[in-house]
Amino acid sequence: MKKLIIGGFCLILALVFGNAMIVSGQNDEEMSVPMGTIALEAPESVEASRPAVSFPHPTHFSFNCQTCHHQWELDEPIVSCTTSGCHDGTVAPTKSQKGAVDEETAIAYYKTAFHKMCIGCHKEMKIEKKKLEMSGLTLKEKLPNSGPTLCRGCHVPEE
Ligand code: HEC
Ligand code: HEC
Ligand code: HEC
Repeated sequence: MKKLIIGGFCLILALVFGNAMIVSGQNDEEMSVPMGTIALEAPESVEASRPAVSFPHPTHFSFNCQTCHHQWELDEPIVSCTTSGCHDGTVAPTKSQKGAVDEETAIAYYKTAFHKMCIGCHKEMKIEKKKLEMSGLTLKEKLPNSGPTLCRGCHVPEE
């Protein structure tokens, strides 16, 4: 618990001062938290068919870090989503395989992982927003933003 509180305090300090160096856990490894937009692009071996995604990291800090960094246990630096053994699959399971592919194999494919998490949450937020709107309890201009769900909302074409 104490560790969590100290961790939380460091995090707040990091967020306030924007330098975002966090010393995590027992092994005192430093972790630098990207405080701007992260370019999420296809792995090198993939020929991308869509523009890379500009992901505004801090816009998402109202959520618990572990919502996305679900393997992070606070005691070591966060690793990239496409780290080997995580969502490092670069080839989509073929159509004929699809029914037979288990969830673990399916989510290892990086595109499935990103789409499931990013679009999944934005869709949920949209439903929540709709519920609020229908309830009539929140002024229209005070309704929360829900994040893009359309292809071009994330894969923004260059002008
Ligand atoms: C909505 C999802 C989401 C939330 C919430 C989130 N992050 Fe991230 N974060 C990402 C994504 C996506 C990346 C890019 C990962 C990659 O390049 O594979 C990232 C990257 C990072 C990295 C760099 C990892 C690397 O590859 O070196 C750090 C450190 C990090 N986040 C810390 C945090 C902390 C601390 C919080 C909580 C304040 C947080 N993140 C909240 C999605 C999120
Ligand atoms: C746990 C929920 C959640 C997850 C996961 C999530 N988002 Fe979001 N995202 C939101 C919400 C809520 C907003 C609206 C925030 C706001 O405008 O204040 C948003 C906004 C955005 C925006 C628009 C920002 C702007 O300035 O208009 C982009 C782009 C975006 N998200 C991309 C992503 C990508 C890419 C991922 C996956 C790596 C992702 N999001 C994962 C909840 C989420
Ligand atoms: C909420 C954000 C978000 C939305 C909405 C979204 N994507 Fe993605 N998509 C991503 C992220 C993040 C990646 C992984 C990074 C990358 O490869 O650009 C990705 C990867 C991809 C890839 C693999 C890489 C490539 O360029 O070939 C394709 C194809 C793709 N998306 C197509 C789509 C299509 C089609 C839609 C609409 C039906 C869509 N995406 C909607 C975030 C999104």
